[in-house]
Amino acid sequence: MNTGSLLAADLVIAVLAAAGWLGGGAASAARRRPLALGLAGLALLATLARAITITALARAGWWFAAEKVVIAAPLSLAGVVVAGTRLLRVPGDIRSVAVPMLFAGYAGSGALLVTLLHGYPASAGVGLLAVAGIVAATAVSWRILSPRPSRTLSRAATVVAVAALVAGTGLLVPGATPAAPHDHRYQDASTVGEPTRRFTLTAGTATVRVSGRDVAAWAFNGQVPGPELTATVGDVLAVTLRNRDIARGVTLHWHGYDVPNSQDGVPGVTQAAVLPGQEFVYRFRAGQAGTYWYHTHAVSDVGVRKGLYGALVVRPAPVTGVDVTVPVHTLAGEPLPAPRVEPVEAGEPVRLRLINTDSTTHRYALAGTPFRVAAIDGYELRGPTPLVDTAVLIPAGGRYDLVFTAPATPVALFVDGRAVYSTGPMSAATDGWPVLDPLGYGVGSPAPWSRFDRKFTLVLDRGLDLRGLLPRYAHTVNGATDPDIPPHAVRLGDIVRFTIVNRSMVVHPWHLHGHHVLVLSHNRQPATGSPLWLDSFDVRPGDVWEVAFRADNPGMWANHCHNLAHTGMTLHLMYS
Ligand code: C2O
Ligand code: CU
Repeated sequence: MNTGSLLAADLVIAVLAAAGWLGGGAASAARRRPLALGLAGLALLATLARAITITALARAGWWFAAEKVVIAAPLSLAGVVVAGTRLLRVPGDIRSVAVPMLFAGYAGSGALLVTLLHGYPASAGVGLLAVAGIVAATAVSWRILSPRPSRTLSRAATVVAVAALVAGTGLLVPGATPAAPHDHRYQDASTVGEPTRRFTLTAGTATVRVSGRDVAAWAFNGQVPGPELTATVGDVLAVTLRNRDIARGVTLHWHGYDVPNSQDGVPGVTQAAVLPGQEFVYRFRAGQAGTYWYHTHAVSDVGVRKGLYGALVVRPAPVTGVDVTVPVHTLAGEPLPAPRVEPVEAGEPVRLRLINTDSTTHRYALAGTPFRVAAIDGYELRGPTPLVDTAVLIPAGGRYDLVFTAPATPVALFVDGRAVYSTGPMSAATDGWPVLDPLGYGVGSPAPWSRFDRKFTLVLDRGLDLRGLLPRYAHTVNGATDPDIPPHAVRLGDIVRFTIVNRSMVVHPWHLHGHHVLVLSHNRQPATGSPLWLDSFDVRPGDVWEVAFRADNPGMWANHCHNLAHTGMTLHLMYS
């Protein structure tokens, strides 16, 4: 069983155990003996099963099990001991086991809440709060159900609950979090020489036609996607961004293009958002060939979804053959781009540049020809071998370049089963195709680094965020949400290793600005194929990724989840 399913199974079992005890307690209070004993048996079995899931999770990585081992296991054990010893005495009056069983149920529920609301890292404060809640709930049940509650005992329970509450709250009051990097002065554009390619992108509200339907969109130059920006390696780009009427402001972020920090387009970090009537000129040298894209980074979850994005393609000097860009997007529920059919002469080399501009993964399948994955996230792979009837999964923000030599018969590219590009009429069932694992694809080479100057761990989860006006059930990194996630500090030249762990039940496509990271391993399997230099990769439930990079691009860089609706999952990489 993979770690993601294990996390889900553990949750279900924990719910069963807590519900079994609580139900058993209620049934005994109502003197329904067989039901009470049956539910107690279920709760015992579930608790036993949980010992197995927790052990397996701890073996998959401490991040997955910490609070379960430290908080949930002792609480569940206390519940089993208290309720179990009472049950073993086979009470004449089943009602006498009601409170012990309810106690076990509160203990299980408390532990469950710790996992659901707080998660990793486990802390003494959270543990004490759980104890306070459990003791208080037990004391209340006991006062209600006991024929002659002892004063001393109920006073003792109150004292324990209050003490645990006070101590827990005290331990949880946040210490000074390092200031989030939102108020430093923006740097000037670096001197990159005279522009050789100039573009103007005007952002504005627009009505665009998708699949025969008029859709209200936000568009660059009135079109979705925005114009494809192309350049040749060595060009100096000057892109003027104007905002006509996007009230919440716009910027341009060059996704995957490692530009100088001042050109990175992150409002509040590298520049101020460009408001209606304003403009901003981005300048950078196109030093790296490959497939990239641009998008607004101001309220990006709304802006990108509504259409403020486009392709950025940098080609090496002479290019031959057919070169097609396929930026996939979902606009108002309609899939883009519209299917395109273009005959290609047999023998022509073809390059398909696939871009996923959505917030979730897409599955791409190229039918009718053997092909190679020539590049991922703009970087060429070493020794890619031909693939036949194989699908690729592209994470949110990611790009794959597929190359093939046009056969005499039609070829078609399917995205989630829909044909988006073809060289002639053809149909194919691509559903059952295996999916390429890029970690073992192409020719490997030894990792360039064996020691790391900095090591950081990012634990992705979900939890209660109490810092705002209203509590929110937010996506978290290391237990916090933006802007409260402490930045990671590096020095120029450092070799940095990130370990990224997903404890949650959803995929988080991870994206570091300003750098490509080299994949070292995924779920403990070392990367053996061509070196993979990625800027976007899917961290699935239960995943552990180890990636590394050289800190060679000074500045303050966003490091975030590219499911743009997960707004809290942003932290920063900061050069000191
Ligand atoms: Cu494509 Cu910070 O994003
Ligand atoms: Cu996410």
